[in-house]
Amino acid sequence: MATEQTLSIIKPDATRRNLTGKIIAKFEEAGLRVVAQKRLHMTLAMAQAFYAVHKDRPFYNDLCQFMVSGPVVVQVLQGENAVAKNREVMGATNPANAAPGTVRKEFAESIEANSVHGSDSLENARNEIAFFFSQTEIVG
Ligand code: CMP
Repeated sequence: MATEQTLSIIKPDATRRNLTGKIIAKFEEAGLRVVAQKRLHMTLAMAQAFYAVHKDRPFYNDLCQFMVSGPVVVQVLQGENAVAKNREVMGATNPANAAPGTVRKEFAESIEANSVHGSDSLENARNEIAFFFSQTEIVG
């Protein structure tokens, strides 16, 4: 097994309900370590660029508006198989399909306001981490 880093975003629906600590506790309980973290209010241009891969999907505009509706907390999570581990802890994109005990099952409001984002591959993780963090901000 390899030590990996992945990009996590605690989304506006979760920061609004003051759930940041409860969500981070789930990551840490699963063996993931927060090696970088900041709270920011994304601009629309940032949200559009971050989710550019979805730009032709019907939910793209609503998703970008939602992501700028309040602050987010972006993090680099590090650990064994961090990309897959984080996705396991998050649960399915749609909370209706998420397994018991996952972040989205416990906290998500809807498929859009689903509390967290996590990179879906190691390659995307590298790109998404670089989108938000410089190397000097990541402290393992
Ligand atoms: P995330 O993991 O951040 O990746 C893309 C996001 O788009 C996803 O979580 C959801 O917030 C959102 N999303 C995915 N599918 C849909 C959908 N069918 N309707 C609305 N939003 C969606």
